[in-house]
Amino acid sequence: MGDKPHWEGIYRDKAPDSVSWYQEHPGYSLELIQAAGIGKGQPIIDIGGGASRLADLLLDADYKDLTVLDIASTALAHAQRRLGERAQRITWLEADATDFSSGRRYALWHDRAVFHFLTDSADRWRYLDNLRQSLLPKAQVIIATFAPDGPEQCSGLPVVRYDAAKITRLFGEYLVLQETRNEAHRTPSGKVQHFSYFRCSLSAIPLSRDVRNGYSHRAIFRE
Ligand SMILES: C[S@@+](CC[C@H](N)C(=O)[O-])C[C@H]1O[C@@H](n2cnc3c(N)ncnc32)[C@H](O)[C@@H]1O
Repeated sequence: MGDKPHWEGIYRDKAPDSVSWYQEHPGYSLELIQAAGIGKGQPIIDIGGGASRLADLLLDADYKDLTVLDIASTALAHAQRRLGERAQRITWLEADATDFSSGRRYALWHDRAVFHFLTDSADRWRYLDNLRQSLLPKAQVIIATFAPDGPEQCSGLPVVRYDAAKITRLFGEYLVLQETRNEAHRTPSGKVQHFSYFRCSLSAIPLSRDVRNGYSHRAIFRE
């Protein structure tokens, strides 16, 4: 399960533009969301969006149905303060990505630097099960993690690093990798961290198999 006290403390004690993952302009995420080709009115969820400026960019780009989920209320409060009145156009969910139910399904699931904190396979299954239950048919999934030559830790916590082969193995037949992009992210203190972004689409075949035969997520995702 996510370490809520850790994350609440990070956003209480640090300015959002001083944390290592801060981006003035989350350009890779925006470009990949645009490449996903979903309609501007279709629902998007940013998992572990924290205080990211992606929400601002998506509003600027006229995406209308945005949800930002984060385990830390202090992170969401930063984003809401920054957005001012525009914050009302977004649904904010304080929840753990390994243990939530929004009761909605999304056309696009975006996660930058959250999935890689799941070092325990039971947490990964829970996350992937929530993902599976939260996607509309033909949904797209964008997950950005540290690349194999990225850091072994973030915010003092261990991470799992992924390349395309490793993420593809995990997603099995369920998510089909469409595109990988590598980013050399420069932190506010000037260090370079290598990220990989994976854009995937939901495969129709296992979904129907799943519905017809009651396949469990363990049979769908492989590790
Ligand atoms: C490294 S930051 C990335 C924030 C944002 N995605 C970005 O790229 O700027 C990780 C974020 O995930 C949140 N987080 C960590 N574990 C989580 C979990 N299990 N469920 C939901 N959010 C989580 C943290 O509070 C934090 O905002």
